[in-house]
Amino acid sequence: MVPIFVILSIVAFIWITKIVFEKNRNLPPSPFPCLPIVGHLYLVKSPLHRALGKVSNRYGPVLMLQFGSRKTLLVSSPDAVEECLTTNDIAFANRPHLLAGKHFGYDYTTLPWSSYGDHWRNLRRIATLELFSAHRVQTLNSVRAEEVRLLAKKVYESAIKGNGIVEMKSMFFELMLNVMMMMIAGKRYYGDSVSDVQEGQRFKAIVKETFVLMETTNVSDYLPWWKWLGGRALEKRFVDLRKIRDKFMQDLLDEQKRKLICGSEQEREIEKKDEKKNLIQVLLMLKKNEPEYYKDQVIKGLMQVLLSAGTDTSSSTMEWMLSHLLNNPEVLKKARDEIDRYVGEDRLFDESDISNLPYLRCIINETLRMNSPGPIVFHESGKDCTVGGYHIPSGTMLLMNVWAMHNDPKNWEEPKKFKPGRFIGLEGLKDGYKLMPFSAGRRKCPAENLATRMVGLALGTLIQCFDWERTSDEMIDMTEGTGLTMPRAKPLVAKCQPRLKMAKLLF
Ligand code: HEM
Repeated sequence: MVPIFVILSIVAFIWITKIVFEKNRNLPPSPFPCLPIVGHLYLVKSPLHRALGKVSNRYGPVLMLQFGSRKTLLVSSPDAVEECLTTNDIAFANRPHLLAGKHFGYDYTTLPWSSYGDHWRNLRRIATLELFSAHRVQTLNSVRAEEVRLLAKKVYESAIKGNGIVEMKSMFFELMLNVMMMMIAGKRYYGDSVSDVQEGQRFKAIVKETFVLMETTNVSDYLPWWKWLGGRALEKRFVDLRKIRDKFMQDLLDEQKRKLICGSEQEREIEKKDEKKNLIQVLLMLKKNEPEYYKDQVIKGLMQVLLSAGTDTSSSTMEWMLSHLLNNPEVLKKARDEIDRYVGEDRLFDESDISNLPYLRCIINETLRMNSPGPIVFHESGKDCTVGGYHIPSGTMLLMNVWAMHNDPKNWEEPKKFKPGRFIGLEGLKDGYKLMPFSAGRRKCPAENLATRMVGLALGTLIQCFDWERTSDEMIDMTEGTGLTMPRAKPLVAKCQPRLKMAKLLF
Protein backbone atom coordinates (compact mmCIF):
# COMPACT_ATOMS: atom_id res chain seq x y z
CA MET A 1 0.00 0.00 0.00
CA VAL A 2 1.29 3.47 -0.94
CA PRO A 3 1.05 5.73 2.13
CA ILE A 4 -1.56 8.48 1.82
CA PHE A 5 1.02 11.25 2.42
CA VAL A 6 2.94 10.08 -0.70
CA ILE A 7 -0.22 10.37 -2.81
CA LEU A 8 -1.02 13.79 -1.35
CA SER A 9 2.58 14.96 -2.00
CA ILE A 10 2.33 13.85 -5.66
CA VAL A 11 -1.03 15.65 -6.11
CA ALA A 12 0.40 18.80 -4.43
CA PHE A 13 3.53 18.64 -6.61
CA ILE A 14 1.51 18.33 -9.86
CA TRP A 15 -0.79 21.14 -8.73
CA ILE A 16 2.03 23.58 -7.84
CA THR A 17 4.00 22.73 -11.03
CA LYS A 18 0.85 23.42 -13.07
CA ILE A 19 0.31 26.81 -11.40
CA VAL A 20 3.97 27.85 -11.98
CA PHE A 21 3.92 26.56 -15.59
CA GLU A 22 0.67 28.37 -16.46
CA LYS A 23 1.89 31.66 -14.92
CA ASN A 24 4.70 31.62 -17.50
CA ARG A 25 2.34 31.11 -20.46
CA ASN A 26 0.67 34.54 -20.29
CA LEU A 27 -2.77 33.01 -19.75
CA PRO A 28 -5.64 35.28 -18.56
CA PRO A 29 -6.03 35.74 -14.79
CA SER A 30 -7.65 32.89 -12.94
CA PRO A 31 -9.62 33.06 -9.66
CA PHE A 32 -7.97 31.49 -6.62
CA PRO A 33 -8.20 28.69 -5.68
CA CYS A 34 -8.17 26.32 -8.65
CA LEU A 35 -8.66 23.04 -6.79
CA PRO A 36 -7.04 19.77 -7.80
CA ILE A 37 -9.28 17.63 -10.07
CA VAL A 38 -12.42 19.83 -10.00
CA GLY A 39 -10.62 23.11 -10.74
CA HIS A 40 -13.20 25.93 -10.61
CA LEU A 41 -16.29 23.71 -10.79
CA TYR A 42 -17.13 24.85 -7.27
CA LEU A 43 -18.07 28.23 -8.84
CA VAL A 44 -20.81 26.63 -10.95
CA LYS A 45 -24.21 27.42 -9.47
CA SER A 46 -27.67 27.83 -10.91
CA PRO A 47 -28.47 29.99 -12.80
CA LEU A 48 -25.04 29.77 -14.40
CA HIS A 49 -25.09 33.23 -16.05
CA ARG A 50 -25.62 34.95 -12.68
CA ALA A 51 -22.99 32.84 -10.87
CA LEU A 52 -20.41 33.52 -13.60
CA GLY A 53 -21.47 37.20 -13.74
CA LYS A 54 -20.47 37.52 -10.07
CA VAL A 55 -17.12 35.86 -10.78
CA SER A 56 -16.42 38.32 -13.62
CA ASN A 57 -17.45 41.31 -11.47
CA ARG A 58 -14.90 40.23 -8.91
CA TYR A 59 -11.98 39.12 -11.09
CA GLY A 60 -12.40 40.90 -14.45
CA PRO A 61 -13.96 40.51 -17.93
CA VAL A 62 -11.39 38.06 -19.36
CA LEU A 63 -10.76 35.03 -17.14
CA MET A 64 -9.33 31.59 -17.50
CA LEU A 65 -11.21 28.94 -15.55
CA GLN A 66 -10.60 25.24 -15.20
CA PHE A 67 -13.86 23.28 -15.31
CA GLY A 68 -12.62 19.81 -14.37
CA SER A 69 -10.57 18.73 -17.39
CA ARG A 70 -11.76 21.64 -19.59
CA LYS A 71 -9.82 24.86 -19.92
CA THR A 72 -12.48 27.57 -20.14
CA LEU A 73 -12.21 31.20 -21.21
CA LEU A 74 -14.95 33.35 -19.67
CA VAL A 75 -15.55 36.74 -21.32
CA SER A 76 -18.13 39.28 -20.23
CA SER A 77 -17.35 42.67 -21.79
CA PRO A 78 -18.38 43.96 -25.25
CA ASP A 79 -14.72 44.61 -26.18
CA ALA A 80 -13.56 41.12 -25.27
CA VAL A 81 -16.56 39.49 -27.01
CA GLU A 82 -15.93 41.61 -30.11
CA GLU A 83 -12.31 40.43 -30.20
CA CYS A 84 -13.48 36.79 -29.95
CA LEU A 85 -16.08 37.18 -32.72
CA THR A 86 -14.16 39.40 -35.18
CA THR A 87 -10.36 39.04 -35.06
CA ASN A 88 -10.66 35.50 -33.68
CA ASP A 89 -13.95 34.51 -35.33
CA ILE A 90 -12.49 31.48 -37.12
CA ALA A 91 -10.28 30.48 -34.19
CA PHE A 92 -13.37 30.29 -31.97
CA ALA A 93 -15.81 28.82 -34.48
CA ASN A 94 -15.81 25.29 -32.99
CA ARG A 95 -18.25 23.91 -30.43
CA PRO A 96 -17.22 21.97 -27.32
CA HIS A 97 -17.94 18.23 -27.50
CA LEU A 98 -20.57 17.74 -24.79
CA LEU A 99 -22.69 14.63 -24.28
CA ALA A 100 -25.83 16.41 -25.52
CA GLY A 101 -24.09 17.10 -28.86
CA LYS A 102 -23.07 13.46 -29.22
CA HIS A 103 -26.60 12.14 -28.88
CA PHE A 104 -28.84 15.03 -29.96
CA GLY A 105 -26.41 16.19 -32.63
CA TYR A 106 -25.76 12.84 -34.42
CA ASP A 107 -22.20 12.62 -33.09
CA TYR A 108 -21.54 16.36 -33.48
CA THR A 109 -22.60 16.47 -37.13
CA THR A 110 -25.68 18.74 -36.94
CA LEU A 111 -25.51 22.50 -37.56
CA PRO A 112 -25.33 23.74 -33.96
CA TRP A 113 -22.98 20.99 -32.78
CA SER A 114 -20.59 20.49 -35.65
CA SER A 115 -17.12 22.00 -35.60
CA TYR A 116 -16.03 24.61 -38.11
CA GLY A 117 -15.09 23.11 -41.49
CA ASP A 118 -16.52 22.07 -44.86
CA HIS A 119 -19.41 20.07 -43.39
CA TRP A 120 -20.54 22.94 -41.11
CA ARG A 121 -20.18 25.45 -43.99
CA ASN A 122 -22.40 23.29 -46.18
CA LEU A 123 -25.07 22.93 -43.49
CA ARG A 124 -24.94 26.65 -42.79
CA ARG A 125 -25.34 27.39 -46.51
CA ILE A 126 -28.40 25.12 -46.73
CA ALA A 127 -29.90 26.65 -43.60
CA THR A 128 -29.27 30.22 -44.73
CA LEU A 129 -30.47 29.79 -48.32
CA GLU A 130 -33.11 27.10 -48.07
CA LEU A 131 -34.59 27.22 -44.56
CA PHE A 132 -34.20 30.73 -43.17
CA SER A 133 -33.85 32.96 -46.25
CA ALA A 134 -36.24 35.93 -46.41
CA HIS A 135 -38.02 34.19 -49.30
CA ARG A 136 -38.50 30.87 -47.48
CA VAL A 137 -39.60 32.55 -44.25
CA GLN A 138 -42.08 34.63 -46.24
CA THR A 139 -43.54 31.61 -48.09
CA LEU A 140 -44.41 29.96 -44.77
CA ASN A 141 -46.06 33.12 -43.46
CA SER A 142 -49.56 31.63 -43.70
CA VAL A 143 -48.56 28.67 -41.49
CA ARG A 144 -47.48 31.00 -38.69
CA ALA A 145 -50.51 33.26 -39.12
CA GLU A 146 -52.89 30.31 -38.79
CA GLU A 147 -51.10 28.89 -35.73
CA VAL A 148 -51.20 32.27 -33.98
CA ARG A 149 -54.90 32.65 -34.76
CA LEU A 150 -55.45 29.20 -33.18
CA LEU A 151 -53.40 30.29 -30.15
CA ALA A 152 -55.58 33.38 -29.70
CA LYS A 153 -58.71 31.22 -30.07
CA LYS A 154 -57.40 28.82 -27.41
CA VAL A 155 -56.61 31.72 -25.05
CA TYR A 156 -60.15 33.02 -25.66
CA GLU A 157 -61.72 29.64 -24.83
CA SER A 158 -59.54 29.11 -21.74
CA ALA A 159 -60.35 32.61 -20.52
CA ILE A 160 -64.09 32.00 -20.91
CA LYS A 161 -63.83 28.66 -19.06
CA GLY A 162 -61.47 29.84 -16.33
CA ASN A 163 -62.84 33.25 -15.34
CA GLY A 164 -60.23 34.96 -17.46
CA ILE A 165 -57.28 33.10 -15.89
CA VAL A 166 -54.88 31.50 -18.39
CA GLU A 167 -51.58 29.63 -18.02
CA MET A 168 -49.37 31.03 -20.76
CA LYS A 169 -46.17 28.94 -20.62
CA SER A 170 -47.68 25.84 -22.21
CA MET A 171 -49.68 28.02 -24.65
CA PHE A 172 -46.48 29.59 -26.04
CA PHE A 173 -44.48 26.37 -26.00
CA GLU A 174 -47.15 24.39 -27.85
CA LEU A 175 -47.55 27.25 -30.32
CA MET A 176 -43.85 27.03 -31.21
CA LEU A 177 -43.87 23.23 -31.44
CA ASN A 178 -46.87 23.38 -33.78
CA VAL A 179 -45.27 26.12 -35.91
CA MET A 180 -42.00 24.19 -36.24
CA MET A 181 -43.70 20.86 -37.04
CA MET A 182 -45.98 22.56 -39.58
CA MET A 183 -42.93 24.11 -41.22
CA ILE A 184 -41.00 20.82 -41.13
CA ALA A 185 -43.65 18.29 -42.11
CA GLY A 186 -47.00 20.07 -42.43
CA LYS A 187 -48.31 18.46 -39.21
CA ARG A 188 -49.48 19.69 -35.83
CA TYR A 189 -49.46 17.71 -32.61
CA TYR A 190 -51.08 20.07 -30.08
CA GLY A 191 -54.60 21.49 -29.91
CA ASP A 192 -57.87 20.42 -31.49
CA SER A 193 -57.11 19.52 -35.08
CA VAL A 194 -54.45 16.84 -34.60
CA SER A 195 -54.80 14.33 -37.42
CA ASP A 196 -52.83 11.44 -35.88
CA VAL A 197 -53.34 11.35 -32.10
CA GLN A 198 -51.02 8.38 -31.51
CA GLU A 199 -48.16 10.00 -33.42
CA GLY A 200 -48.85 13.16 -31.40
CA GLN A 201 -48.45 11.20 -28.14
CA ARG A 202 -45.11 9.79 -29.33
CA PHE A 203 -43.93 13.27 -30.21
CA LYS A 204 -45.00 14.74 -26.85
CA ALA A 205 -43.15 11.99 -24.95
CA ILE A 206 -39.99 12.76 -26.96
CA VAL A 207 -40.26 16.50 -26.29
CA LYS A 208 -40.74 15.89 -22.55
CA GLU A 209 -37.71 13.62 -22.18
CA THR A 210 -35.56 15.89 -24.39
CA PHE A 211 -36.17 18.88 -22.14
CA VAL A 212 -35.54 16.88 -18.97
CA LEU A 213 -32.17 15.72 -20.34
CA MET A 214 -31.23 19.18 -21.68
CA GLU A 215 -31.71 20.62 -18.21
CA THR A 216 -29.61 17.96 -16.47
CA THR A 217 -25.96 18.88 -15.93
CA ASN A 218 -23.79 16.08 -17.19
CA VAL A 219 -20.87 15.92 -14.78
CA SER A 220 -18.82 13.70 -17.12
CA ASP A 221 -18.66 16.56 -19.66
CA TYR A 222 -16.12 18.06 -17.23
CA LEU A 223 -14.91 15.04 -15.24
CA PRO A 224 -14.71 12.23 -17.83
CA TRP A 225 -14.03 9.52 -15.19
CA TRP A 226 -17.44 10.31 -13.64
CA LYS A 227 -18.95 8.26 -16.45
CA TRP A 228 -17.62 5.10 -14.79
CA LEU A 229 -18.90 6.07 -11.34
CA GLY A 230 -22.39 7.46 -11.72
CA GLY A 231 -22.71 8.92 -15.21
CA ARG A 232 -23.67 5.81 -17.15
CA ALA A 233 -27.33 5.85 -16.18
CA LEU A 234 -27.65 9.37 -17.64
CA GLU A 235 -25.83 8.41 -20.83
CA LYS A 236 -28.15 5.43 -21.22
CA ARG A 237 -31.14 7.80 -21.15
CA PHE A 238 -29.49 9.87 -23.89
CA VAL A 239 -28.85 6.73 -25.98
CA ASP A 240 -32.42 5.48 -25.55
CA LEU A 241 -33.91 8.85 -26.44
CA ARG A 242 -31.60 9.20 -29.44
CA LYS A 243 -32.99 5.94 -30.88
CA ILE A 244 -36.60 6.99 -30.30
CA ARG A 245 -36.06 10.48 -31.78
CA ASP A 246 -34.26 9.05 -34.78
CA LYS A 247 -37.05 6.56 -35.49
CA PHE A 248 -39.66 9.32 -35.22
CA MET A 249 -37.80 11.59 -37.66
CA GLN A 250 -37.14 8.69 -40.03
CA ASP A 251 -40.87 7.83 -40.10
CA LEU A 252 -41.73 11.44 -40.95
CA LEU A 253 -39.08 11.53 -43.65
CA ASP A 254 -40.20 8.20 -45.16
CA GLU A 255 -43.80 9.39 -45.21
CA GLN A 256 -42.82 12.48 -47.22
CA LYS A 257 -40.64 10.35 -49.52
CA ARG A 258 -43.59 8.09 -50.29
CA LYS A 259 -45.71 11.10 -51.14
CA LEU A 260 -43.02 12.51 -53.36
CA ILE A 261 -42.38 9.62 -55.72
CA CYS A 262 -40.14 11.04 -58.46
CA GLY A 263 -42.00 12.41 -61.45
CA SER A 264 -45.40 11.92 -59.81
CA GLU A 265 -48.28 14.29 -60.29
CA GLN A 266 -47.89 15.47 -56.71
CA GLU A 267 -44.20 16.23 -57.15
CA ARG A 268 -44.95 18.39 -60.18
CA GLU A 269 -47.73 20.07 -58.23
CA ILE A 270 -45.47 20.82 -55.26
CA GLU A 271 -42.68 22.09 -57.49
CA LYS A 272 -45.09 24.52 -59.14
CA LYS A 273 -46.51 25.85 -55.86
CA ASP A 274 -43.48 26.93 -53.87
CA GLU A 275 -45.55 28.09 -50.93
CA LYS A 276 -46.94 24.58 -50.38
CA LYS A 277 -43.53 22.99 -49.73
CA ASN A 278 -42.70 21.98 -46.20
CA LEU A 279 -39.03 21.85 -45.27
CA ILE A 280 -38.67 18.08 -45.71
CA GLN A 281 -40.01 18.48 -49.24
CA VAL A 282 -37.57 21.33 -49.92
CA LEU A 283 -34.67 19.16 -48.77
CA LEU A 284 -35.87 16.08 -50.69
CA MET A 285 -36.04 18.15 -53.87
CA LEU A 286 -32.51 19.42 -53.34
CA LYS A 287 -31.47 15.80 -52.87
CA LYS A 288 -32.27 15.16 -56.54
CA ASN A 289 -29.28 17.29 -57.59
CA GLU A 290 -26.90 16.43 -54.75
CA PRO A 291 -27.91 12.92 -53.58
CA GLU A 292 -24.53 12.26 -52.01
CA TYR A 293 -24.91 15.26 -49.73
CA TYR A 294 -28.59 15.20 -48.72
CA LYS A 295 -28.38 11.86 -46.95
CA ASP A 296 -31.19 10.91 -44.56
CA GLN A 297 -29.05 11.74 -41.56
CA VAL A 298 -28.37 15.29 -42.80
CA ILE A 299 -32.09 15.88 -43.37
CA LYS A 300 -33.06 14.38 -39.99
CA GLY A 301 -30.35 16.50 -38.36
CA LEU A 302 -31.82 19.68 -39.87
CA MET A 303 -35.32 18.65 -38.75
CA GLN A 304 -34.11 18.13 -35.19
CA VAL A 305 -32.29 21.47 -35.20
CA LEU A 306 -35.50 23.38 -35.92
CA LEU A 307 -37.23 21.62 -33.05
CA SER A 308 -34.45 22.02 -30.52
CA ALA A 309 -33.08 25.49 -31.40
CA GLY A 310 -36.36 27.04 -32.49
CA THR A 311 -38.96 26.21 -29.85
CA ASP A 312 -38.19 27.14 -26.25
CA THR A 313 -35.91 30.03 -27.27
CA SER A 314 -38.86 31.79 -28.90
CA SER A 315 -41.55 30.61 -26.46
CA SER A 316 -39.61 31.69 -23.38
CA THR A 317 -39.04 35.13 -24.97
CA MET A 318 -42.82 35.42 -25.46
CA GLU A 319 -43.47 34.43 -21.84
CA TRP A 320 -40.91 36.92 -20.46
CA MET A 321 -42.27 39.65 -22.73
CA LEU A 322 -45.85 39.23 -21.54
CA SER A 323 -44.60 39.07 -17.91
CA HIS A 324 -42.83 42.43 -18.33
CA LEU A 325 -45.92 43.95 -19.94
CA LEU A 326 -48.12 42.83 -17.04
CA ASN A 327 -45.70 44.41 -14.57
CA ASN A 328 -45.56 47.61 -16.67
CA PRO A 329 -49.17 48.43 -17.67
CA GLU A 330 -48.15 51.85 -19.05
CA VAL A 331 -45.86 50.10 -21.57
CA LEU A 332 -48.64 47.66 -22.44
CA LYS A 333 -51.03 50.58 -23.03
CA LYS A 334 -48.55 52.34 -25.30
CA ALA A 335 -48.06 49.13 -27.32
CA ARG A 336 -51.84 48.65 -27.61
CA ASP A 337 -52.33 52.28 -28.73
CA GLU A 338 -49.68 51.82 -31.42
CA ILE A 339 -51.34 48.62 -32.67
CA ASP A 340 -54.83 50.17 -32.61
CA ARG A 341 -53.55 53.19 -34.51
CA TYR A 342 -51.76 51.24 -37.19
CA VAL A 343 -53.62 47.91 -37.49
CA GLY A 344 -57.04 48.89 -36.17
CA GLU A 345 -59.79 46.49 -35.11
CA ASP A 346 -61.16 45.31 -38.44
CA ARG A 347 -58.51 42.75 -39.23
CA LEU A 348 -56.11 40.52 -37.31
CA PHE A 349 -52.52 41.55 -36.69
CA ASP A 350 -50.20 40.38 -39.49
CA GLU A 351 -46.43 39.74 -39.53
CA SER A 352 -45.94 42.52 -42.07
CA ASP A 353 -47.29 45.02 -39.48
CA ILE A 354 -44.21 44.58 -37.30
CA SER A 355 -42.06 46.80 -39.53
CA ASN A 356 -44.53 49.66 -38.91
CA LEU A 357 -44.62 49.27 -35.12
CA PRO A 358 -41.37 50.72 -33.70
CA TYR A 359 -42.50 50.62 -30.08
CA LEU A 360 -43.41 46.93 -30.27
CA ARG A 361 -39.91 46.27 -31.68
CA CYS A 362 -38.40 48.24 -28.77
CA ILE A 363 -40.29 45.97 -26.34
CA ILE A 364 -38.92 42.86 -28.07
CA ASN A 365 -35.37 44.27 -27.86
CA GLU A 366 -35.73 45.20 -24.21
CA THR A 367 -37.05 41.72 -23.37
CA LEU A 368 -34.16 40.09 -25.23
CA ARG A 369 -31.74 42.40 -23.40
CA MET A 370 -33.04 41.42 -19.96
CA ASN A 371 -34.00 37.80 -20.59
CA SER A 372 -31.97 36.54 -23.49
CA PRO A 373 -32.78 32.84 -24.03
CA GLY A 374 -29.10 32.26 -24.85
CA PRO A 375 -27.61 33.94 -21.74
CA ILE A 376 -24.31 32.13 -22.21
CA VAL A 377 -22.98 31.30 -25.67
CA PHE A 378 -20.61 28.31 -25.92
CA HIS A 379 -17.82 28.05 -28.51
CA GLU A 380 -14.38 26.39 -28.55
CA SER A 381 -11.04 27.43 -30.01
CA GLY A 382 -9.64 25.33 -32.86
CA LYS A 383 -6.21 27.02 -32.77
CA ASP A 384 -4.09 29.22 -30.50
CA CYS A 385 -5.06 32.91 -30.42
CA THR A 386 -4.85 36.07 -28.32
CA VAL A 387 -7.66 37.79 -26.37
CA GLY A 388 -7.07 40.98 -24.35
CA GLY A 389 -3.32 40.46 -24.87
CA TYR A 390 -3.46 36.98 -23.25
CA HIS A 391 -2.55 33.71 -24.86
CA ILE A 392 -5.50 31.31 -25.43
CA PRO A 393 -4.51 27.74 -26.28
CA SER A 394 -6.31 25.67 -28.90
CA GLY A 395 -9.07 23.49 -27.42
CA THR A 396 -10.21 26.11 -24.88
CA MET A 397 -13.97 26.25 -24.30
CA LEU A 398 -15.22 29.84 -24.69
CA LEU A 399 -18.16 31.06 -22.59
CA MET A 400 -19.52 34.47 -23.62
CA ASN A 401 -21.73 35.76 -20.83
CA VAL A 402 -24.25 37.71 -22.89
CA TRP A 403 -26.54 38.14 -19.88
CA ALA A 404 -23.74 39.85 -17.89
CA MET A 405 -23.16 42.35 -20.74
CA HIS A 406 -26.87 43.00 -21.18
CA ASN A 407 -27.29 43.71 -17.47
CA ASP A 408 -24.09 45.64 -16.76
CA PRO A 409 -24.56 49.28 -15.63
CA LYS A 410 -21.37 50.13 -17.56
CA ASN A 411 -23.23 49.27 -20.78
CA TRP A 412 -26.85 50.17 -19.94
CA GLU A 413 -28.35 52.86 -17.74
CA GLU A 414 -30.52 51.33 -15.00
CA PRO A 415 -30.18 47.83 -16.47
CA LYS A 416 -32.59 46.24 -13.99
CA LYS A 417 -35.46 48.46 -15.19
CA PHE A 418 -37.67 47.45 -18.09
CA LYS A 419 -37.44 50.55 -20.30
CA PRO A 420 -38.24 49.77 -23.96
CA GLY A 421 -37.98 53.51 -24.70
CA ARG A 422 -34.17 53.23 -24.45
CA PHE A 423 -34.20 51.66 -27.93
CA ILE A 424 -36.18 54.43 -29.65
CA GLY A 425 -34.13 55.70 -32.58
CA LEU A 426 -31.34 53.16 -31.95
CA GLU A 427 -32.61 50.47 -34.29
CA GLY A 428 -30.27 49.21 -36.95
CA LEU A 429 -27.31 50.89 -35.27
CA LYS A 430 -24.65 48.40 -34.30
CA ASP A 431 -24.01 49.67 -30.82
CA GLY A 432 -20.75 47.84 -30.27
CA TYR A 433 -21.38 44.36 -28.88
CA LYS A 434 -23.55 45.59 -26.00
CA LEU A 435 -26.71 43.90 -27.30
CA MET A 436 -26.31 40.51 -28.91
CA PRO A 437 -29.16 38.11 -28.07
CA PHE A 438 -28.58 36.30 -31.37
CA SER A 439 -24.78 36.42 -30.95
CA ALA A 440 -22.56 37.62 -33.80
CA GLY A 441 -19.90 36.38 -36.21
CA ARG A 442 -20.08 33.34 -38.42
CA ARG A 443 -21.96 31.16 -35.92
CA LYS A 444 -24.62 33.73 -35.04
CA CYS A 445 -28.23 32.55 -34.98
CA PRO A 446 -29.30 32.01 -38.62
CA ALA A 447 -32.98 32.40 -37.73
CA GLU A 448 -33.06 35.90 -36.20
CA ASN A 449 -35.55 37.12 -38.79
CA LEU A 450 -37.89 34.15 -38.24
CA ALA A 451 -37.62 34.38 -34.43
CA THR A 452 -38.37 38.12 -34.20
CA ARG A 453 -41.29 37.74 -36.60
CA MET A 454 -42.76 34.93 -34.50
CA VAL A 455 -42.39 36.80 -31.20
CA GLY A 456 -43.79 40.02 -32.74
CA LEU A 457 -46.71 38.22 -34.38
CA ALA A 458 -47.73 36.25 -31.27
CA LEU A 459 -47.49 39.16 -28.83
CA GLY A 460 -48.91 41.70 -31.30
CA THR A 461 -51.98 39.48 -31.79
CA LEU A 462 -52.49 38.86 -28.06
CA ILE A 463 -52.20 42.57 -27.28
CA GLN A 464 -54.62 43.40 -30.07
CA CYS A 465 -57.25 40.81 -29.12
CA PHE A 466 -57.28 40.88 -25.30
CA ASP A 467 -57.17 43.22 -22.31
CA TRP A 468 -54.43 41.85 -20.06
CA GLU A 469 -53.76 42.23 -16.36
CA ARG A 470 -52.12 40.44 -13.44
CA THR A 471 -54.21 37.91 -11.49
CA SER A 472 -53.73 39.99 -8.31
CA ASP A 473 -52.13 43.23 -7.12
CA GLU A 474 -48.88 41.36 -6.58
CA MET A 475 -46.21 41.90 -9.22
CA ILE A 476 -45.36 38.95 -11.47
CA ASP A 477 -42.41 37.09 -9.95
CA MET A 478 -39.51 37.49 -12.39
CA THR A 479 -37.22 34.85 -10.85
CA GLU A 480 -35.28 32.77 -13.35
CA GLY A 481 -35.46 28.98 -13.20
CA THR A 482 -32.87 26.36 -14.04
CA GLY A 483 -31.96 25.42 -17.62
CA LEU A 484 -29.70 26.88 -20.28
CA THR A 485 -32.38 28.91 -22.08
CA MET A 486 -33.32 31.09 -19.08
CA PRO A 487 -36.84 29.81 -18.42
CA ARG A 488 -39.01 31.52 -15.82
CA ALA A 489 -38.97 29.83 -12.39
CA LYS A 490 -42.76 29.83 -12.30
CA PRO A 491 -44.96 29.38 -15.37
CA LEU A 492 -46.73 32.64 -16.19
CA VAL A 493 -50.41 32.79 -15.23
CA ALA A 494 -52.27 35.91 -16.38
CA LYS A 495 -55.78 37.33 -16.53
CA CYS A 496 -57.33 38.42 -19.79
CA GLN A 497 -60.61 39.68 -21.15
CA PRO A 498 -61.36 39.21 -24.86
CA ARG A 499 -62.04 42.47 -26.74
CA LEU A 500 -65.47 41.91 -28.18
CA LYS A 501 -64.80 43.50 -31.54
CA MET A 502 -61.76 41.28 -32.09
CA ALA A 503 -63.34 38.00 -30.95
CA LYS A 504 -65.30 37.55 -34.19
CA LEU A 505 -62.02 37.55 -36.16
CA LEU A 506 -60.74 34.51 -34.24
CA PHE A 507 -63.48 32.07 -35.29
C1 HEM B 1 -35.75 34.53 -29.67
C2 HEM B 1 -35.35 33.46 -30.30
C3 HEM B 1 -33.91 33.04 -30.51
C4 HEM B 1 -32.75 33.49 -29.93
C5 HEM B 1 -32.59 34.60 -28.92
C6 HEM B 1 -31.65 32.72 -30.50
C7 HEM B 1 -30.32 32.88 -30.14
C8 HEM B 1 -29.29 32.07 -30.61
C9 HEM B 1 -27.94 32.12 -30.13
C10 HEM B 1 -27.43 33.05 -29.05
C11 HEM B 1 -27.23 31.19 -30.82
C12 HEM B 1 -25.74 30.85 -30.65
C13 HEM B 1 -24.90 31.62 -31.64
C14 HEM B 1 -23.42 31.38 -31.45
O1 HEM B 1 -23.03 30.27 -31.17
O2 HEM B 1 -22.64 32.34 -31.58
C15 HEM B 1 -28.12 30.55 -31.75
C16 HEM B 1 -27.76 29.57 -32.64
C17 HEM B 1 -28.63 28.94 -33.47
N1 HEM B 1 -29.98 29.19 -33.60
FE1 HEM B 1 -31.05 30.58 -32.60
N2 HEM B 1 -32.16 31.83 -31.41
C18 HEM B 1 -33.53 31.99 -31.45
C19 HEM B 1 -34.42 31.30 -32.25
C20 HEM B 1 -34.05 30.38 -33.19
C21 HEM B 1 -34.98 29.72 -34.09
C22 HEM B 1 -36.49 30.01 -34.17
C23 HEM B 1 -34.23 28.84 -34.83
C24 HEM B 1 -34.68 27.89 -35.91
C25 HEM B 1 -35.89 27.59 -36.22
C26 HEM B 1 -32.85 28.96 -34.42
C27 HEM B 1 -31.80 28.25 -34.97
C28 HEM B 1 -30.48 28.34 -34.55
C29 HEM B 1 -29.40 27.50 -35.08
C30 HEM B 1 -29.54 26.43 -36.16
C31 HEM B 1 -28.24 27.88 -34.40
C32 HEM B 1 -26.84 27.29 -34.56
C33 HEM B 1 -26.03 28.05 -35.61
C34 HEM B 1 -24.62 27.49 -35.79
O3 HEM B 1 -24.09 26.85 -34.91
O4 HEM B 1 -24.05 27.73 -36.88
N3 HEM B 1 -32.78 29.91 -33.43
N4 HEM B 1 -29.39 31.10 -31.60
